[in-house]
Amino acid sequence: MFSYSFGNQSLETLLEAAGLTAAFNANLEKAVTYAKGLAADGLLPFARQAADGPDMEPIAQAAARITANADDLIVLGTGGSSLGAQAAIAIARFNKGTVRIHTPDSLCPFEMDLLFKELEPRRTHVLAVSKSGTTAETLAQLLACRAWIEAGAHAADLGDHFTFITEPGDRPLRTYGEKLGSPILDHPTDVGGRFSVLTNVGMLPVAVSGLSVRAFREGAKEVCDNFIAHPETATAVVGAALTQTLNEHKDITQVLIMPYAESLRAFTRWHGQLWAESLGKDGLGTTPIRAVGPVDQHSQLQLFLDGPNDKFCTFVTIPSYGKGPRIDPAEAKAYGLDYMAGRTIGDTVTCQSRATQETLRAKGRTVREIVIDGLSEQNLGGLFVSFMLETVVTAHLMGVNAFDQPAVEEGKILTRQYLNELDIE
Ligand code: PA5
Repeated sequence: MFSYSFGNQSLETLLEAAGLTAAFNANLEKAVTYAKGLAADGLLPFARQAADGPDMEPIAQAAARITANADDLIVLGTGGSSLGAQAAIAIARFNKGTVRIHTPDSLCPFEMDLLFKELEPRRTHVLAVSKSGTTAETLAQLLACRAWIEAGAHAADLGDHFTFITEPGDRPLRTYGEKLGSPILDHPTDVGGRFSVLTNVGMLPVAVSGLSVRAFREGAKEVCDNFIAHPETATAVVGAALTQTLNEHKDITQVLIMPYAESLRAFTRWHGQLWAESLGKDGLGTTPIRAVGPVDQHSQLQLFLDGPNDKFCTFVTIPSYGKGPRIDPAEAKAYGLDYMAGRTIGDTVTCQSRATQETLRAKGRTVREIVIDGLSEQNLGGLFVSFMLETVVTAHLMGVNAFDQPAVEEGKILTRQYLNELDIE
């Protein structure tokens, strides 16, 4: 599982040194009261996706149908309908899934051309995901995929190449799926896009990738149980209270997420959307920054260390001492690299993360370290639910609604208008 800390300092010492004890305690009290209310209400639906829930069987069946007939799966969806799945399946390359999964979440003509050139339509399945069933990017990609598969596969089997996830009701994506005669899984109506990773939206790609849906949900449950039993020390509650206190009293306007694992790169994209779209409201909000260690030590760290002190930094680390290839001692010494002799790549990364955090702290930056004990489904499930809860609790402290996104709707309406007005040659 995972734990959090603030380096060698306790949180109490850190707050006292910054003169934030009273302000933090006030926010923590508010956050704990809110968390207790959530617990009493049975928590929010996104956190309640059960390891033995009624959707487990439909997910397993849909995954079996896809893996039986396809070498490649194209997941169509954007924002919350794709980023969670991408983050979840990123650890699958250490497992044995047989289907390659493609996630063209940003509409790009060149990428689509390339995908259609590389894949074999007869052996490709398309999973189209859209809660609203009206998102232009997803629908455009779907129509393009259909034409490509129709041209390259047997027209009679067309419906077998598709699976849909969308809400019940009258919506273009659903009607399209019904006409094709393809399986349609219901997107839970009470879970928003960016909170949907633990529903069928994230978990069907997980099942196709060979990872365990059950383990993701069990990991999430463990974190929820702790959130309910000990809200005053839960990562989500303390993180939310600290973010809000730093924002209110220290002009901290950015939150940095920096995992030290390449497989968590997609997680930072998922978190970026969750945080930005849930909290950027009414002139308020803190901007999410994404980095991955150690590579971004060589690209962004200078700014984090020596630029404005406006970031709350969260490192996600996996103790990796002794992990990965070991450097031959004689070879290293022959080149004067004694400090590397006999060390593993994991030793190097772990020391780099520790050194970077200490350097940031020495520069007066607030650094939280969340430690997970491996890239397992359980740990990722736990991280997902912890950060979703942290977002929701932060929204409560800010006084904004985490679950809507009124500002982006205007752009969607204009896009449809401009497309309508376009002259077609
Ligand atoms: O979190 C959200 O609400 C958004 O990011 C949506 O997921 C995104 O706009 C896609 O919407 P839909 O699933 O309706 O296609």
